[in-house]
Formats: sequence, structure tokens, C-alpha cells
Amino acid sequence: PSCSLATFMDSIRPELFDFHGVSMSHYFTNNWENVQNFQARPDDIVIATYPKAGTTWVSYILDLLYFGQTAPERQTSIPIYERVPFLETARVASKKDLADKLPTSPRLIKTHFPIQFVPKSFWEQNCRIIYVARNAKDNVVSYYHFDRMNQAQPEPGDWNSFFHRFMEGKMVFGSWYDHVNGWWKKKQTYSNLHYMFFEDLLEDTGREIDKLCSFLGLSPSVEEKEIVAGKVQFDNIKKNSMVNYSTLSVMDYNISPFMRKGKVGDWRNHFTVAQNEEFDEDYKKKMKDHTLQFRTEI
Ligand code: A3P
Repeated sequence: PSCSLATFMDSIRPELFDFHGVSMSHYFTNNWENVQNFQARPDDIVIATYPKAGTTWVSYILDLLYFGQTAPERQTSIPIYERVPFLETARVASKKDLADKLPTSPRLIKTHFPIQFVPKSFWEQNCRIIYVARNAKDNVVSYYHFDRMNQAQPEPGDWNSFFHRFMEGKMVFGSWYDHVNGWWKKKQTYSNLHYMFFEDLLEDTGREIDKLCSFLGLSPSVEEKEIVAGKVQFDNIKKNSMVNYSTLSVMDYNISPFMRKGKVGDWRNHFTVAQNEEFDEDYKKKMKDHTLQFRTEI
């Protein structure tokens, strides 16, 4: 009872540990058996990302495309993390089976799993999967601020140590390099995978919505698409409490907001010249497949 809120919050920050060769926290492995046995349906749609690559943004776009017209009340009453739940979550006992119990059709499900952790049922059912990738430099910066504000993530430490741990893959959900490459490789053999980039989405949201619609076999009117593109603009998302995660108490907005900057190139405000050189050199060694190219500015 004398325990202060700060002490309580400190105590819930998890440790990182090696899980089948990937750094993970227990929040995403506790429910492993259930998650691996997940029964996918052929019309399930998966949104897969490395954390901070634009998961929420694309989740919201899909929710609007599928249900924006037919169930508008979803938008004002159900937070996005319940509309598009985490496959691997075990955080809230009562919501453990959230993805499985989704009442919608199709079910929209998000995951941060690296390719080798995806439950086999999704492949057997040939589900459509949308992978969103973000350039490593902005991704690490966004992840740093996220780990500062989210008490359900390991202690980030200072920027320089976080930066080095990112290069070593010592982050929740492992190495960014392995993640983006693993999914990219899968795309070569699995045709129901749409691989898209955060930078492209920011550059031309309408164009990327068109591509999503053609992948998903949706044909909304021009007007509908414009409405979706407007709603998902950064400024609108940032102030939308059903999308901006302000309803989750483990996240401390006083430290940093979930919808933080929404930019390409913010890494320039964080990387020192020396860090940038070190990062680029290491990047070349890890990113040998030159068919996968990222833009660090647009
Ligand atoms: P920043 O921290 O760089 O601002 P995720 O949903 O995968 O956790 O990703 C969160 C990141 O996506 C945050 O990046 C957030 O601001 C950014 N984001 C979300 N919606 C966006 C939008 N409409 N435009 C630009 N960035 C957006």
C-alpha cells in the first residue's frame, strides 16, 4: 500500500531474454502455445511490422477501409488496439484471446513477429499479409522514445546505448535487420504478401491506399478513399484518442507521445556524425540484399 506509482511502474518493466534466437520480453512469449496454435481463417488479414514502423497507421487505414462505412461507431468507441489486436499479446488476461474472438469479418490482426514466429495456420490458410517496413534510422529513434514512455518495455537506457543495442538486435522482437530481410525474402515465394514502406505512405498516402485496395480486392469510391486519407493524416491521428494510445495507462504521455513526430528524417536530430558513420558501415555488412532499399529522407 505504501508503494508509489513510480515504484510499481518500475517493477513492471520487463527484462529482455533470448527466445529461439530472438530477443523478446515475456509479454510476448507468455502465451506462446496458444499463439502458435492460432486457427487462422482464409479471410484473416495480418498487419506485420517491426515495432514503430507504422503499425497503427496501417491498422487504422484498414479498419476504415473495411468498416468505416458499415460500422462507423467503431471509430468512436473502440480503441484501435482492440479493433486490430495483437496476435502475440498476453498482457491482459481477459483479452488474451482477443484476436481469436474478434467479431468482425474479416478479422484484422497485427503482429510484430519475425517471419519464423508466425503461426503456421496463417500460411496454411494462405492469408493476406501486409508488411510495413520503415528505414532503420527513423525506426531506432522512434523505438527509443517509445521505450522511454512505455512502462511495458525494457528500460531503454541512454540514447547511445540504445543505439548500439539496436545494431546488435537486442530489442524486443529482435533485430530490425533480420526482421525486414526475413519478411522480404518471404515475399519472393508467398504471393499474398504486400510489402510496403512507411516513407512511401507518408510521401503519397492516396497512392499507397490505392495499392492496398488493389491487393485486398477492395474498390471504394474516390470520395471514400479521400475520407480515409484525411482521417489518417498525422495531425488527425495524433489527436484521435481511439487511435493515439492515450487510453493505455502503461504509456506515459508526459515522457513522449505515442504519435510523436510522424516524419521521415527525424534521425538527423538524434544521430551524431560519428554514430551515423558507425551505423552506415555496420548497415552495409548486414544488408547484403540490394533489392531491399530504404529511404532515410523523402
Ligand atoms: P515517430 O515516433 O517517429 O513519430 P507504430 O504504430 O508501429 O508503433 O509506429 C508509430 C510511429 O508511426 C510513430 O513514429 C508515429 O508518429 C508514426 N505515425 C503514426 N501515424 C502516422 C501518420 N499518419 N503519419 C506519419 N507518421 C505516423
